[in-house]
Amino acid sequence: MVELRNVYKSYDGKTNVIEDLNMTIQKGELIVLVGESGCGKTTTMQMLNRLIEPTKGEIIINGENTKNVNKNELRRNIGYVIQHVGLFPHKTIEENISTVPLLCKKNKTDIHNKTVELMEMVGLPYEQYSKRYPKELSGGQQQRVGVARALANEPDIILMDEPFSALDPITRGQLQDELLRLHDELDKTIVFVTHDIGEAIKLGDRIAVMQDGKIIQFDTPDDILKNPKNEFVEEFVGKDRLWKTPDMLKAEDIMNKNVVEINPNRTIMQAIEMMKKGNTTVVAVVDKVDGKKNTLLGIVGSNRFSGLTDHSVKMKDIMKKDVIKIPKEMALSEVISIRDEHDIKFSPVVDENDNLIGMITNTSILNVLSQIIPKSEEY
Ligand SMILES: Nc1ncnc2c1ncn2[C@@H]1O[C@H](COP(=O)(O)OP(=O)(O)OP(=O)(O)O)[C@@H](O)[C@H]1O
Ligand SMILES: [Mg+2]
Repeated sequence: MVELRNVYKSYDGKTNVIEDLNMTIQKGELIVLVGESGCGKTTTMQMLNRLIEPTKGEIIINGENTKNVNKNELRRNIGYVIQHVGLFPHKTIEENISTVPLLCKKNKTDIHNKTVELMEMVGLPYEQYSKRYPKELSGGQQQRVGVARALANEPDIILMDEPFSALDPITRGQLQDELLRLHDELDKTIVFVTHDIGEAIKLGDRIAVMQDGKIIQFDTPDDILKNPKNEFVEEFVGKDRLWKTPDMLKAEDIMNKNVVEINPNRTIMQAIEMMKKGNTTVVAVVDKVDGKKNTLLGIVGSNRFSGLTDHSVKMKDIMKKDVIKIPKEMALSEVISIRDEHDIKFSPVVDENDNLIGMITNTSILNVLSQIIPKSEEY
């Protein structure tokens, strides 16, 4: 676990480039720091491995105040990947990767085996690349070496400061995928810096949005997108972002929560009244079963009434029972394709206990989409 407590940094004794930073990072989390140039991302990273010291406050790693840990020892346990790789130009790829483990006097055979394994892992087969020099590799390949080198000493924590920013979008995407795979496999704590919000959303378990040395919001990508804390975060995330990653939207974000519910013994006449009041063309027939609330028995759309002259018919006799229920976590695209496939007008949404919590209609989908598709005058 990594913890920053009331951390300040000032270079001139007056201006705080970092101001009262508080953050707790769990073991195995991938945290992304985002923010505009100069907001203090690199400064934060450098304080974590004591390349620079906080002016005030404490940094605790695995229960120990880093102030009290020998700097070299601390850095051995923290891998660091920087923006422009920082490979040693006159060392081969193998030498670059094994530098730190050699300094730590690890067993040479172990180091060799580890190097072979890491090179395979980052997609640079040992036979082909180990004897080359950094300048004989493309930018993307050099970044991969940087990642392998950061992992070589098997650190618990890896700091990555804009490691992919100099790369073309395709290589960048590939390295992002690879990083996610590595993270799944190795269960390392990773702090990743970027000023690209798209990258942050793709990679982060949680994202810290920084401004002027402060953390404005520290949340899951989902929360940052859906509930930006203030205008700055909203601007930074971009209003159209949700639309670019529409699967962030789940059934519960789309549904209409004001479902008109009706007892199975109510009549068509009563249903028509309730529909008028609720300004809707559908009612959900619910009952209390086994003490549960809102158990959905079926739905009745107003189209069911056509041709029926006897308005005393009960809901239980005309309701549609084989309704496809949508779990609240289902992604927007899946909701849309299920509705298309089965030509559904009304989709009840249920929670994990199968209780009715909302209804999706074409109107509710359109409402959401119209909010997230940028208006034409914004172009
Ligand atoms: N050695 C230094 N002396 C004085 N000021 C510094 C020093 N290093 C950084 N700063 C200032 O601290 C602030 C934060 O810098 P930092 O490098 O942490 O920003 P950053 O968020 O990493 O920006 P970028 O996205 O451009 O890398 C900046 O205003 C910078 O000018
Ligand atoms: Mg920086």
